[in-house]
Amino acid sequence: MNNFPFYYFMSLQLGRTSFGDPANAGHLPSREEAMDLFHDWVKNDRLKLHMLQVAWLMGSWARNNEGLDESGVWKWELAGLLHDADWDQWPDQHCRKIIEELERRGVDPEVIRAIASHGPRHFGVDPETKMDKMLYAFDELSGLIHAYSLMRPEGYSGMELKGVKKRLKEKSFAANVNREEIADAAERAGISVDDLVSFIVLHQPSAKN
Ligand SMILES: [Fe+2]
Repeated sequence: MNNFPFYYFMSLQLGRTSFGDPANAGHLPSREEAMDLFHDWVKNDRLKLHMLQVAWLMGSWARNNEGLDESGVWKWELAGLLHDADWDQWPDQHCRKIIEELERRGVDPEVIRAIASHGPRHFGVDPETKMDKMLYAFDELSGLIHAYSLMRPEGYSGMELKGVKKRLKEKSFAANVNREEIADAAERAGISVDDLVSFIVLHQPSAKN
């Protein structure tokens, strides 16, 4: 999720930890169907870019680090693509609304679960699978790295780990990005923040806009 100040004053707890129907395992919408939902629900270009970046990172990780086939890659990508789909128009129903929509459409429960667990503190659902954990790990950190790219004349080009780490320590930089969540997500994924940063810096510039 993208953190906005009023976010903290709302309860977004989902009150459940089981999502979707196991009978729908393997059922994924087509890319066209998913993009239609994406464009219908999300009007904010900044948020769209964030969701596309996270989708791209998820797909890249699934392909390069999990060795998944195209259907597996699309599954991961889909979770990234739609994880904030309801944030733009229904922030007070964030996560709940997209979960219910994907359940209604009979989408693979693993995709729904990943979306439901991308903010454990907010939604009350712990990331369990690798896909859950990577979505949580990429979400906030990719936002900070994108913010850093916007303040560099060269954008992502030549970006170094030490530069990102300096911004991470600088609390006033991209102040909405929650540093505790970044550390928590990395720990849960069992991947160092350094490795996550390096992966994002390498892959994020290729995210489709
Ligand atoms: Fe997000």
